[in-house]
Parts: sequence; C-alpha cells; structure tokens
Amino acid sequence: MGKIGTVFLGFCSLAIFIPWVCSGLKEEEEKIWSQSLCRGKEKVTKLHFYLQDVVGGPNRTVYDVAKSEITDSLPSEFGEVLVLDNLVTAGPEPESKKVGRMQGVVGLSDLHEMALFMLVNLVFTEGKFNGSTLSVLGRNPLNDKVREVQVVGGTGVFRMARGYVITRTHSVVDAHILSVYEYTVVVFHFDEEAMDLLDM
Ligand SMILES: *[C@@H]1O[C@H](CO)[C@@H](O)[C@H](O)[C@H]1NC(C)=O
Ligand SMILES: *[C@@H]1O[C@H](CO)[C@@H](O)[C@H](O)[C@H]1NC(C)=O
Repeated sequence: MGKIGTVFLGFCSLAIFIPWVCSGLKEEEEKIWSQSLCRGKEKVTKLHFYLQDVVGGPNRTVYDVAKSEITDSLPSEFGEVLVLDNLVTAGPEPESKKVGRMQGVVGLSDLHEMALFMLVNLVFTEGKFNGSTLSVLGRNPLNDKVREVQVVGGTGVFRMARGYVITRTHSVVDAHILSVYEYTVVVFHFDEEAMDLLDM
C-alpha cells in the first residue's frame, strides 16, 4: 500500500471521560485498549486501492444468496442479495500486489435504480495494516460515476475508525466475469504507534 498519506490531527479529546471509560476494565488487553483510546493520538489515514469484483469464471469471488420474486423483472434488480470475498489490490490489475480482501454481504435495495446496500469488512493483509479491518455500511448507487459510502468502524490500527469511501468503477473487463473498482478511503482513527509513547 504505497499511497498512504498520514496526517496527525491532534490529541484525544476524551480526557473528560477517562475515569468512566477506564474504570471497571480488568484484563490486560482491555487496559491497553482503554489506554490507547483515552491517550492515543487521533489521526487521519488515506488509503487507495482497487477491488477485484469477480462475478464469474473459475476464480469467482461473488455469489448469489437470494433473489426476490420481482428481481428478474426489474432493471434495478431489486431484492438480489450477494455474498462476496473479493481481492483488494494495490493496482488495478488482478495480478498486482494483494493488500487485503473485502468480505461481506451486498444487495440491491432500491426499487427504481441499481443501488447496493453494503455490509462489508475490509480485511487488510499487508504491512502495518495487516490484520486490521474497516467496516463499511452504506448505500452505493452503481450508476453514479462517483459514490460515497460511510466507514462506520474498525479494528487494530483502525480501532474507533470513522470515515468514508469514495469509489468509482475503474473498468469492466467483462460484465459477466470481472469489474474493477477504485477505492479511496479516508478514516479518522486512534494511532496504534502512539502506544509506544505511553508510559504503561
Ligand atoms: C484464476 O487464478 C489463477 C491463479 O491465480 C490464474 O492463474 C488464472 O489466470 C485465473 N483465471 C482467470 C480466468 O482469471
Ligand atoms: C500478516 O499477519 C499474519 C498473521 O499474523 C501473518 O501470518 C502474515 O505473514 C502477515 N503477512 C504479512 C505480509 O506481513
């Protein structure tokens, strides 16, 4: 993930809640969690990557789960639900560097236009983001050139994340096999590296 810009924004402003948030936490992990929450720095991270949406062929990663009785008769494909485990890559080519997966459920939930609801987790597998996740929950109107979907949380490096995804269709190699989507993600989160600065 080469194109990651990181800007420090400022210190955690939750100081007023420390006694309440940090009390009653017994286990060591919970202690570390609360200390990083209460005392870590908040920062913003920008990620840029591509999603390989393989809907057919031998390497398929998207499958239908269900359809409504009117799905096939509507241009919006309303009522179709799919599950996916798509490869996330640094570049647009499927063989470019793997940086993670996008796993979850999407569905067509607009009667009148092709618009997805997304309920997916981005699972990162490279570098300092390895093992960290971001949860994306929102509406993705596929016919719009540029779409915004909200990031509602995260784990690991992205603990307490909130932010947004800007996505656009990069290319449709074959509508029945592969589409590639470009993703730019901006998230506010607490800095794991700031843990090093803590006097635990
Ligand atoms: C499927 O994946 C294999 C292994 O990565 C690759 O060699 C092959 O070219 C892929 N096939 C298609 C149709 O993309
Ligand atoms: C990511 O983390 C897993 C589990 O800790 C590890 O097995 C893997 O080698 C790591 N990958 C990279 C690229 O660091």
